[in-house]
Amino acid sequence: MRGIKIIGTGMYAPDMILSNDMLSTFLDTNDEWIYSRTGIRERRISVDKPNFYMAAEAAKAAVANSGTDPSEIDLVLAATCSPDYFYPALSCLVQHAVGAVNAAAFDINSACTGFINALDTASRFLEDGDYKNILIVASERLAPHCDYTDRTASILFGDGAGAAVVTKNDKPMWSYLSAKGDYFNALYCKVDQSRSNCQYLAKTDALPVGIIDSEAKTHTLQMNGKAVYKFAVDAMDTAVRKVLERSGLGIDDIDLYIPHQANARIIESAVKSLGLPEEKVYVNLEKRGNTSSACIPTALAELDEMGRIKDGMTICLVGFGAGLTSGAIVFTQ
Ligand code: UT7
Repeated sequence: MRGIKIIGTGMYAPDMILSNDMLSTFLDTNDEWIYSRTGIRERRISVDKPNFYMAAEAAKAAVANSGTDPSEIDLVLAATCSPDYFYPALSCLVQHAVGAVNAAAFDINSACTGFINALDTASRFLEDGDYKNILIVASERLAPHCDYTDRTASILFGDGAGAAVVTKNDKPMWSYLSAKGDYFNALYCKVDQSRSNCQYLAKTDALPVGIIDSEAKTHTLQMNGKAVYKFAVDAMDTAVRKVLERSGLGIDDIDLYIPHQANARIIESAVKSLGLPEEKVYVNLEKRGNTSSACIPTALAELDEMGRIKDGMTICLVGFGAGLTSGAIVFTQ
């Protein structure tokens, strides 16, 4: 039987606060519009710290909080869609930073659904028995991806990292994961290959022209807000229903719901359609914005700090993101 227990949490938020009022000094927008349409008032932005710095800080905090010696970590999983390097994997940089010398490491990119996919993956490694302690970190530095002339998308996102150390539990867990690749262009950020000099290869006549995407001009985050919104409302509802169906539990059997923090209206819509008790749904996006895969573990770390993650409670995590992907996990702590 699969089961996970969170034995440590940590998070990192950059110092710089980018408020709606600050955005409105260079964008045709205002606090009233952003807050009423999204629930966001401010977000944190990493001005000078790379993604791996944020990831390492959150990971170190989680390992310290777990009481586990770094040498006892068997696997480091990093979820990110905004790495500093194509390779090595972010998880390798984190493994080095925390001193998890005995751990294997690899990354998972399913954008905002990253932590859910990573936690599901971790549970399967734990079930196997060879892996005892797994460090999961989800970290995003989205500011460099944002087009700050695009008032529709750039207002949503912030930077930050969250982490958790998990171990096997004899209490059950269930998951539901989904991907709809046909919606790949509803939310994407293209790799910038324009500075490559692959064009020389074409001169040999051995390789076709067009091996690189030198024409593409858009290497910032591109989003069809309405399409993602529509997908998200449906995906949150479906993922929660499916995972509850698999677990045999009802809405009221869940003690805490932690949704992906993309837009307060999307969360409200899921609360309404599923009939979730509002007091059980954690929302923190007013001060953090959407930090993609980092939203859920950051929320877990905040809740843990408040003493709201207790042994024996049943928690539902639900998210969606670029891909388009979605998923939900139910576990008893
Ligand atoms: O992790 C996944 C990440 N992505 C998402 O979750 C995105 C999901 N989508 C959304 O959250 C919403 O679609 C947005 C917040 C992005 C946009 O909200 P909306 O209610 O769908 O607005 P809209 O795109 O329908 O735009 C309504 C109006 C438009 O003006 P007109 O055409 O009615 O004159 C926009 O140009 O609001 C305008 N507008 C803005 N006005 C002030 C769009 N963005 C802004 C802005 N400030 N920042």
